[in-house]
Amino acid sequence: MTNGHHGSALFGKVAVVTGAGSGIGAAAALRFAAEGASVAVIDIRAEAAQETADRIAKEQGQAIAIAADVSSAAALEEAMDRVMREFGGIDVLYNNAGVDSSGSVSVAEEADWDRCMTINVKGTFLASRAALRHMDDGGSIINQGSVAGLVGIPNFAAYCAAKGAVIALTRQMAIDLAPRRIRVNVICPGTVYTPLMEPMLRARGDGDLEAGLAKTILKYPIGRLGAPEEIANVALFLACGQSSFMTGSVLTTDGGMTAQ
Ligand SMILES: NC(=O)c1ccc[n+]([C@@H]2O[C@H](COP(=O)([O-])OP(=O)(O)OC[C@H]3O[C@@H](n4cnc5c(N)ncnc54)[C@H](O)[C@@H]3O)[C@@H](O)[C@H]2O)c1
Repeated sequence: MTNGHHGSALFGKVAVVTGAGSGIGAAAALRFAAEGASVAVIDIRAEAAQETADRIAKEQGQAIAIAADVSSAAALEEAMDRVMREFGGIDVLYNNAGVDSSGSVSVAEEADWDRCMTINVKGTFLASRAALRHMDDGGSIINQGSVAGLVGIPNFAAYCAAKGAVIALTRQMAIDLAPRRIRVNVICPGTVYTPLMEPMLRARGDGDLEAGLAKTILKYPIGRLGAPEEIANVALFLACGQSSFMTGSVLTTDGGMTAQ
């Protein structure tokens, strides 16, 4: 790792990543740390958060693990207070924690709908509110959208609605936070191979993961799914000064899926 060097993109910065115990969030936490940031690894699963923090420490990066549920305002306030005590500020917040939810409007369960909206949308609001109490002017908030917020995905009603709301919220936050020079952008990944996606891929293949994968890849002009690190690269770009004139932007990172 190259952390600690003055030339690193996030040297001296403090970054908070939610849902950083797995998948895209873990990749981003590792990448931010490699670029010199002190990273707060937040996840609802304490042991998963600790695992990512340990991986960062093993590579000489700086990280703390915090167990918190993004649907709890109190837990998030406590978490951000701890980040303040340990690292002295917050420069970057990556609202990555999210869950998907399957089912068309005809069959979707009300409880699944609520859970999907609560974690993806309200979680983004609550984590942002808690972090903003401490965030320095000039910071960066990155929200996790999805191609599902831009085009309809069969049988994913709640997930599409939730990610569409995250995109709208991003634009709104960009306006309100511009006077503080806090930039707010949203990444819309296409399918990235992570634990979150396995049930969806399996369902698409009628129970067969490989068949589901093959079917999904057909939707990607680039001929493959994404890797978590490829989303982490975009998050790093949005986190650092290289994207200084970008706010309210919607960055599709989807191998051309929504270009057709
Ligand atoms: N994988 C994809 O193809 C894909 C595509 C587009 C968008 N996304 C979005 O990217 C984000 C990360 O997805 P992933 O594929 O890395 O998923 P993942 O399941 O691998 O990781 C998500 C992490 O979030 C944590 N989490 C879940 N609920 C939480 C809560 N209430 N509070 C705190 N942490 C919680 C989980 O414990 C897990 O560690 C999600 O917002 C997802 O919707 C994923």
